[in-house]
Amino acid sequence: MSRASLDKDPRDVAAMFDDVASGYDRANSVMTFGFDRRWRITTGRVLNAQRGERVLDLAAGTGVSTVEFSQAGAWCVAADFSLGMLRSGKRRQVPMVAADALRLPFADESFDAVTIAFGLRNFVDTKAALTEIARVVKPGGRLVVCEVSTPPFAPIRLVHEKVLMRALTWLGKRQSSNPEAYSYLAESMAAWPDQHQLGEIIAAAGWEDVEWLNLTFGVVAVHRATKPTR
Ligand SMILES: C[S@@+](CC[C@H](N)C(=O)[O-])C[C@H]1O[C@@H](n2cnc3c(N)ncnc32)[C@H](O)[C@@H]1O
Repeated sequence: MSRASLDKDPRDVAAMFDDVASGYDRANSVMTFGFDRRWRITTGRVLNAQRGERVLDLAAGTGVSTVEFSQAGAWCVAADFSLGMLRSGKRRQVPMVAADALRLPFADESFDAVTIAFGLRNFVDTKAALTEIARVVKPGGRLVVCEVSTPPFAPIRLVHEKVLMRALTWLGKRQSSNPEAYSYLAESMAAWPDQHQLGEIIAAAGWEDVEWLNLTFGVVAVHRATKPTR
C-alpha cells in the first residue's frame, strides 16, 4: 500500500493511483454521494467539445470523464501516468495514452481543448503543468479544469471543512483497497487554493479570460480559460 505526501513526488502519486485503480470508479461515486456524475456532465457542458475537435482529457484516470467529454462527437484522448488507472478503464471505447502532465508526448498546438477533472491538484508543479498544457493547445484553444474548491458562504464552508471532508475520508477509507490514499486526498484538498487563487495561478501560467463556475455550493469549481492568440 502506498500514499503520496504533499510534496507530490510523481512516482508516489502514480503508485498510489495504481493501488486504488481497481475500485476507483465505485469509491469515487460512493464518497461524492453520486455527485461526481453531475460534476462531469457540467464540466462537459463548459468544455462544449464539438464534432471535429481534438480534446485532451489529462489525468483522465479510468477514462470515465473522457467518455462524457466525447458525447458530442469530438475526438477525445485519455492521458494519465498511472498505468493501473488506464488499465482499469480499458473496457471504455476511448483512446488512452500513458503520459505525464509535465512532459506531454504531443506536438505543439495539437489540441483544440484540454480538460483536467480532479487531476491538477495532484501535479507536482501546477504552474509548470499549465504552461506545458498551453504548449499543446492551439492559439485560442480552451482549458477547462474541474477541481475541489472552497465554498464561498461561511456556514457551508464550515460544514464542508468540519463534517463533509471527514465523512468523505471515512467513506473513502472503507471503500478503497488503499485506505491511506484517502488521508492524502483530505490533506491535498485542505491545502488546495480557493477559486480566486487558482484563477490567478492559471492566469500567471499565460492563460487569459479566466473565469469559474461554482458547483454544489463551491465544494467543486470549474475554471475555464483561453490560450492567447498571439
Ligand atoms: C482523482 S483521479 C481523477 C481521474 C478522472 N479525471 C476522474 O475525474 O475520475 C487523478 C488522476 O490524476 C492522475 N495524475 C496525477 N498526476 C499526474 C501527472 N503528472 N500526469 C498524468 N496524470 C496524473 C492520477 O494518476 C489519477 O489517475
